[in-house]
Amino acid sequence: MAKVITFGIQKGGSSKTTTSGIVAYLLSQKHRVLAVDMDSQGNLTELLTQQDIYNFHKRTVFEALQIQDARPFIHKITDNLHIIPAEDHIARFASWLYDSKNPYRGNKSLVLMETLGDVQSDYDYIIVDTPPALGEQTINALAAANVVVAMFEASKFCYSALGRFLETCVHVQEKVNREMKIAGILRCMIDVRRTDNKALIELAEEVYGELCFDTVITRTAATGRLSINGFENNPEIKSAVAQYLEFIEELMDRVNGVED
Ligand SMILES: Nc1ncnc2c1ncn2[C@@H]1O[C@H](COP(=O)(O)OP(=O)(O)OP(=O)(O)O)[C@@H](O)[C@H]1O
Ligand SMILES: [Mg+2]
Repeated sequence: MAKVITFGIQKGGSSKTTTSGIVAYLLSQKHRVLAVDMDSQGNLTELLTQQDIYNFHKRTVFEALQIQDARPFIHKITDNLHIIPAEDHIARFASWLYDSKNPYRGNKSLVLMETLGDVQSDYDYIIVDTPPALGEQTINALAAANVVVAMFEASKFCYSALGRFLETCVHVQEKVNREMKIAGILRCMIDVRRTDNKALIELAEEVYGELCFDTVITRTAATGRLSINGFENNPEIKSAVAQYLEFIEELMDRVNGVED
């Protein structure tokens, strides 16, 4: 059965998509991976497929959620890397969920988990990217997860968001999915020349201790350019993803510490 790994933080621009895309790409070198885009921006879809998100109109995660069946909406990127894409319409997920005419009668936080149910045995890992908000799309992504990675970009606003994000994870654990674990906090987008970045990195460690991954991801031009160049036939791919290899090792240790 696939391990579901969700990347989240309600602060925008904190490398959720970049990190989930790189992790999906790197894991797919050796494992069967399904990426799931739960954000109406469709950035993970664009990053991994290098296509316009509207090419996937009506063939996205929103349609999958409405029938709680992922299979017809899986797009193949490579043999080992598949995606359920998103476009703007997933923004209507909450209104669909609360529409009195909606025939869905299950737990409103478990729609994604139910949707992925039948395909879990087809993959080793399912990587879920979330929007910069704590709405229903994120709650469903947290509830569907075996493990959650909290993204901490070294800024004061992201630091302010982190506490509430972790509280939300605990709430989802208590109310919806007792099996879900918080894998840890990934400190990222560090500008090594900035002392305030360094101070925030240290503050996160002081406050959250071992919950922080040891690996810290810096800002690099090659990583930033992935959205333009993609993963295939990208001459700087090795340097773009190099620093994520260490993180994946740590992540795998924490993921595999989690029982099926
Ligand atoms: N390690 C990095 N080095 C350089 N640039 C990066 C790095 N990680 C992310 N970026 C860039 O920072 C910007 C924000 O990253 P990304 O879109 O992954 O964040 P996000 O948390 O998914 O944003 P949103 O909240 O809007 O979904 C993007 O332009 C991305 O290319
Ligand atoms: Mg994003």
